[in-house]
Amino acid sequence: MPMVDDKNGHPLHVKRPSENEFLHTNVKHTGIVHSSFSFESLQESANYLLDRISTRPKIGIICGSGLGPITDTLTQKQCFPYEDIPHFPSSTVKGHVGQMVFGYLHGVPVMCMQGRFHYYEGYPLWKCAMPVRVMKLVGVSHLIVTNAAGGLNPNYNVGDIMLMKDHVNLMGFAGNNPLQGPNDDRFGPRFPPMNRAYNKQLLAACDKVVNEMGIQDIVHKGVYTCLGGPNYETVAELKVLKILGVDAVGMSTVHEVITARHCEMKVVAFSLITNMCVDDYEDHMEANHNEVMEVSERMKGLLKEFVSRIVAYIKEELNVDDATK
Ligand code: HPA
Repeated sequence: MPMVDDKNGHPLHVKRPSENEFLHTNVKHTGIVHSSFSFESLQESANYLLDRISTRPKIGIICGSGLGPITDTLTQKQCFPYEDIPHFPSSTVKGHVGQMVFGYLHGVPVMCMQGRFHYYEGYPLWKCAMPVRVMKLVGVSHLIVTNAAGGLNPNYNVGDIMLMKDHVNLMGFAGNNPLQGPNDDRFGPRFPPMNRAYNKQLLAACDKVVNEMGIQDIVHKGVYTCLGGPNYETVAELKVLKILGVDAVGMSTVHEVITARHCEMKVVAFSLITNMCVDDYEDHMEANHNEVMEVSERMKGLLKEFVSRIVAYIKEELNVDDATK
């Protein structure tokens, strides 16, 4: 008699790692010790979802800290807790629910990650970014990535939006990258370019949305970087980031975008500036997570509208069809 999870009626064994979960290189011959999910195991994750959903979304959304309420707007919702999806890690952060949400946003089918995985939770970068590959295998071609970030650019204010025009992969500078290890060409090439990471057409669509909503005063285009966290930055670190040309700093997104570009997804990303970084030794303000959550809560209505309109543009202007099953 199979054991059944009484919440969803799914057999418990779906969580048990299968033989092909990890792609182990032959340590004896190569000396490489690296593991990541194999194409086949990620396909198992995707198939779990494909077997249960009534849509075929081409647009994916990653909801950052406190930005999960973006999914409130969805109709005909279907939710899949990460713990039920084969091979998924589970989210451990307060304010992150931890589920895949499918549904329609203004009539367009979408697939949302409500809660993401962070490096500071203890997951390697490839594991933090694995849901992006699952999204790809479900059929997503366009990815909207959101995050909460600290503002470094003195022209920014708390509550502003920074559309990402580029990023600095600082963890990559230190030799840590989600694409490390053996490459599976079914996802993408060994050496993917990253100079056009943020799609120009999608950025132009965002410009239109910004104009329509009359929010030009609070929207900027800038450069994001991800640090490992979980601590916020020292004054000296922030001064270095400024010299590097960074406008906003957070603890996510970069490895997701690298993974998405590797498999040729079109990406648009933005940060909600939830706090201004304190890069002055005389300033006694301190960054804290409650402030991040409060600002996200305050801005959620505007952000929902912003994301819905971007989705509508992707559908209409870029001809991403409705893809109903
Ligand atoms: N630094 C890093 N990550 C963040 C910040 C910050 O100031 N604010 C929100 N996420």
